[in-house]
Amino acid sequence: TEAPLKDLYKDAFQIGAAVNPTTIVTQESLLTYHFNSLTAENEMKFESLHPQEEVYTFEKADIIAAFAKENNMALRGHTLVWHNQTAGWLFENETGGLVERDVLLARLREHIETVVDRYKDVIYSWDVVNEAISDDANDENAFLRPSKWLDIAGENFIAKAFEFAHEADPQALLFYNDYNESHPHKRERIYRLVRSLLDQGVPIHGVGLQAHWNLYDPSLDDIRAAIERYAELGLQLQLTELDMSVFRFEDRRTDLIQPTQDMMELQAARYESIFRVLYEYREHISAVTFWGAADDYTWLDGFPVRGRKNWPFLFDEAHHPKEAYQRVAQIPQLN
Ligand code: G3I
Repeated sequence: TEAPLKDLYKDAFQIGAAVNPTTIVTQESLLTYHFNSLTAENEMKFESLHPQEEVYTFEKADIIAAFAKENNMALRGHTLVWHNQTAGWLFENETGGLVERDVLLARLREHIETVVDRYKDVIYSWDVVNEAISDDANDENAFLRPSKWLDIAGENFIAKAFEFAHEADPQALLFYNDYNESHPHKRERIYRLVRSLLDQGVPIHGVGLQAHWNLYDPSLDDIRAAIERYAELGLQLQLTELDMSVFRFEDRRTDLIQPTQDMMELQAARYESIFRVLYEYREHISAVTFWGAADDYTWLDGFPVRGRKNWPFLFDEAHHPKEAYQRVAQIPQLN
């Protein structure tokens, strides 16, 4: 049988997986054998935990936290501030209009204190702010993504979220997390945001590179350049949501019920070259978390093309190691 990935990479970085209450059951042996870190896929997001002002629903998040504890796995918290999957009440006043800035920030503080405090014995790092940067490649002045957070509270909601999280758990490592993180235009915006937070003395300890990649994009050069650029901030880096779609984003084909041999060979080669880079930069990278664990379950099934199955991981639908696993496994052994 194959060696556990977490052992092979023990001296380099943690190996993580996103899970949900279903996959901790259906993928239990795979998770506990190869992985030493977990992230809740949806269960710790605002709308999952706090659907109404006076109502917290912790059951599913608690199940994942208990699973991590029982199995001695690290747990990353995801996520405190996002434009998506956030309960509507948060931004509204009694008459259904937008709340005042002070009210929004007070609600945010209460949410962060409650959630961070509840899990502080098991969660060692939080994605405090997720995806706040604009993707707009055409407007060179674009910076933050339009959102209710920005409309109501202005740019400062980001710094405030980090301050509240730090107050709630001074031990926790606090991350800014985003996707398209290796595209040069977005990379520079992320760099600029984190640099300005550091200049203001905001407690931030890491940059999360989501790494939702595919067989063709981003280029290895862009990945390397992104790691080097973020490393200049002097913070720790983590890949937080790695997966490797076998399709270009815009590919519409829905006929495949299993991946082609070519796809699997390309995927193995690409995972190998990417992990070589990650291993090379292991002094800066403290964890590599996949957004799932094996090809039987991925959020990419049906996204962005309905009916299109995907095979983005190192383990197949039966949880057997793919060629990509073999290539990734050999890297620390050769070094
Ligand atoms: O909970 C409802 C369920 O009640 C309903 O029956 C079902 C029918 O569609 O939908 C369920 O909600 C879905 C939820 O996942 C839970 O499965 C939502 O429709 C679906 O949109 C949601 O997708 C999640 C997505 O975030 C939302 O933006 C994915 O599972 C999750 O993997 C994905 O994760 C994000 C990260 O948080 C941030 N970075 C990008 C990443 C991938 O999009």
